[in-house]
Amino acid sequence: MSDTLPTSNRQVRLLHRPEGLVRPEDFEIVEADVPPLAEGEALLRTVYLGMDATVRTWLNQGEGYLPAVEIGEVVRCSGVGQIVATNCDAYEIGDIAISLNGWQEHTVVRDDLYTTKMPPGTELLPMMSVFGSTGAAAYFGLLDIGQPKEGETVVVSAAAGATGSLVGQIAKIKGCRVVGIAGSDEKCAWVVDELGFDACINHRTDDLKASLKQHCPDRVDVYFDNVGGDILDAVLGGLNMHGRVVLCGAISVYNDKGRKGGPANYLNLIARRGRMEGFITLDFWDRFPECTTQLAAWAAEGKLHWRNHVVDGLERAPEALNMLFTGENIGKVIVQVAPERPPT
Ligand SMILES: NC(=O)c1ccc[n+]([C@@H]2O[C@H](COP(=O)([O-])OP(=O)(O)OC[C@H]3O[C@@H](n4cnc5c(N)ncnc54)[C@H](OP(=O)(O)O)[C@@H]3O)[C@@H](O)[C@H]2O)c1
Repeated sequence: MSDTLPTSNRQVRLLHRPEGLVRPEDFEIVEADVPPLAEGEALLRTVYLGMDATVRTWLNQGEGYLPAVEIGEVVRCSGVGQIVATNCDAYEIGDIAISLNGWQEHTVVRDDLYTTKMPPGTELLPMMSVFGSTGAAAYFGLLDIGQPKEGETVVVSAAAGATGSLVGQIAKIKGCRVVGIAGSDEKCAWVVDELGFDACINHRTDDLKASLKQHCPDRVDVYFDNVGGDILDAVLGGLNMHGRVVLCGAISVYNDKGRKGGPANYLNLIARRGRMEGFITLDFWDRFPECTTQLAAWAAEGKLHWRNHVVDGLERAPEALNMLFTGENIGKVIVQVAPERPPT
């Protein structure tokens, strides 16, 4: 136990269910008390929050793979920080852990599936951008669900985003031809010139169908879908025999109300004997060390690069969440909640 427990905990709570992009008035910022720790609990001080588009889906009414955030609850979100007080044998003060911290300064954690202790000396920022759930989505989604083989063509959307930029690089490491789809020339230039993608299509200015034909002359063997909607439909139209479509996310429709439309080209899965399969990173959490070790090895070999788009201040979390939908980000959107070292 620490004898200098923080007494107050700034939180961002959901006030209204948003429509479309979130607005500041959909949330309230409150100073809550830090609760006393029960047996088996520890207090995690949040340093960084990783902005995930999934957070936006949790703000809607209705059941997803986790329940909706209720009105009045702290917004659920992954993060990384340090243990500052403990009543749990699994944690010591100073331990680094990733968890579902939520949009708040401190989180009560337990030794369970939602909190993972990291080795001493772990750098915090890359835990959000590459070694945490983002890296796991790219790694397991591409390799386990997409199963790319050397020489195959892999297409990835939101290619300059956190997940997509890692997917394309892993596919290159596996010897594939990689074509990205991104929302600006700057993003396309980054993934081709710096990350080594073979080509990138600007979905705002290029003719998607014609560009896919041009850059995927042997059709598409694996499509890693981060966006859904019209882009999913266009790539389904270019699928190769036995092509695999990895459904990682559908950010283009998360803000839509009601029933989402389906892709018109899904019949191509029959003609091309294709497979379309969704996944959730949590499904692979028991293999998290495998993923972290492999990504770290590739990074050490200079084969894996990433960018952080850091937004300063917990109160800017709603603004940071919107960046994923407006496409302002290159790489991982991260909110810095506190300095890396606790004040002494
Ligand atoms: N299944 C899982 O377990 C899992 C885990 C993590 C993430 N995800 C999903 O993976 C996807 C990427 O997440 P991320 O955190 O890595 O975000 P990100 O790619 O860093 O950011 C989102 C990007 O999506 C693109 N985008 C937004 N609206 C779009 C639209 N209408 N049409 C086309 N592109 C659009 C934007 O890029 P452009 O400028 O290029 O359009 C934006 O930068 C999300 O769908 C997320 O929900 C799933």
